[in-house]
Amino acid sequence: MSTITRRLPPGEATGLRTGARHSLAELYRPADLVVLGLGVMIGAGIFSIAGDQAANTAGPGVILSFMIAGIACLLACLCYAELSSTMPTSGSAYTFTYVIFGEVWAWIIGWALILELQLAAAVVARAWAGITVGAIKNFGVTLSDQELIGDILVVVILVAITGVVAAGARIGLRALWIMVTAKLVAIGAVIVVGVQHVDVANFGDFFVAPETLATPPATVLDVFVGQSQVFGWFGIFAAASAIAFAYIGFDIVATSAEETVNAPKAVPKGMIRSLVIATVIYIAVALVMVGMVPYNKIESRAPLSSAFRLAGVDWMVHVIDFGAVLGLTTVILVLIVGQTRVLFSMARDGLIPRALATVSRRYHTPSLVTLVIGGTTILLAEFVNVLTMQELVVIGTLFAFLFVAAGVIVMRRRMPHLERGFRVPLSPLLPALSLVATLWLMVNLRVLTWAWFALWMAFGLLVYLLYGHRNSLLAKPRPQAEPVRGGRHRR
Ligand code: ALA
Repeated sequence: MSTITRRLPPGEATGLRTGARHSLAELYRPADLVVLGLGVMIGAGIFSIAGDQAANTAGPGVILSFMIAGIACLLACLCYAELSSTMPTSGSAYTFTYVIFGEVWAWIIGWALILELQLAAAVVARAWAGITVGAIKNFGVTLSDQELIGDILVVVILVAITGVVAAGARIGLRALWIMVTAKLVAIGAVIVVGVQHVDVANFGDFFVAPETLATPPATVLDVFVGQSQVFGWFGIFAAASAIAFAYIGFDIVATSAEETVNAPKAVPKGMIRSLVIATVIYIAVALVMVGMVPYNKIESRAPLSSAFRLAGVDWMVHVIDFGAVLGLTTVILVLIVGQTRVLFSMARDGLIPRALATVSRRYHTPSLVTLVIGGTTILLAEFVNVLTMQELVVIGTLFAFLFVAAGVIVMRRRMPHLERGFRVPLSPLLPALSLVATLWLMVNLRVLTWAWFALWMAFGLLVYLLYGHRNSLLAKPRPQAEPVRGGRHRR
């Protein structure tokens, strides 16, 4: 076997080889995983992207976009559920790929996950600052220098969240339960109050007539058909791909597997339940939003608030602000936790410096890597125009979905006897459909997004060749693999 395709034995997928498997505290129970999933999913996607897509790309058909993206994500979720029930590891898709396809592919997926999680945390932190500034203004306060205040808020939220994550998942988990409950109450209010102001005429027949744009083809699909379109089916599919951002997060639940009690059963349940609940919430919120006002009156910057204002329910603006500020806070929190777990796994495999896999004796978390991620997120959110980069987050995520779906098919053939806490029904049909659905979402992303993604991956490959390939634990004789510090901890 070529060294770059050497594979991690399934029994070592969770770090038994290094002792690190037992370094993280077993903390989560199934209900916690649902909270984690809802904590990370319900955020910028529903509070801002959905309205933007309704106004500019899909019209009331955005409801169909949510359904299409939801179906694609549910298929991917089933595949994640099977693999994480077989290999309950904090590396998630990265480790699955290491076992099934080999090291270089694992590195590629790890690199894509870094893009997903790191960039998403920066995007949502920036969006959080914007929403918080808006919320303060909605109380009638005049802010002299909004940009500066936004910059300060980004640092404040990221320092606070990094501190909480570094100091231990237990504190983070308590805060998460409270904030997720509060945001669900706010979302519930949006649905209950909003539904009373729905005018069915606003739904039209869901299909706004397609518009051909004068601009050059934007998505990969546009290139195939030779023109750029919004609205109509093209718009609905393009919006589905952008809206996939809202579903990002069920996959991150898989990164908590090593810290979950009875992970092979609990992780699939937590992932699937949280995704189903989020999908129902999204469709309900989208129905209310496009039902309350004509789609072309929705303001892209504050879609839900603008819909309620136009419907004359001004007080709801504060409820939405409250839900969005809390909602985005939990998204950042879980994204950073997920990112720490993926890097922790890559570090203990030796593909990035092993020091990053060190678990703090005091807090039982990988504190060092948490600080590195917190700092990087601040730099990204402060100095890069991350709000234009949501699609890059989506493409990184979808790319991992492809490997997970293919992984289920290959693993069933190659390792049929491995114990599986959950099995995708109708395999290989559903995993194959997951591949097709994911690819379809990918071709509806912009060519520019693909180009940036290709660059990022090429850079990653270079890093692997220069560092990971040589320092991989699999490249070293076994006795040199020393245990990572830390003992086993239970709640
Ligand atoms: N799903 C998360 C959000 O919408 C990333 O903010």
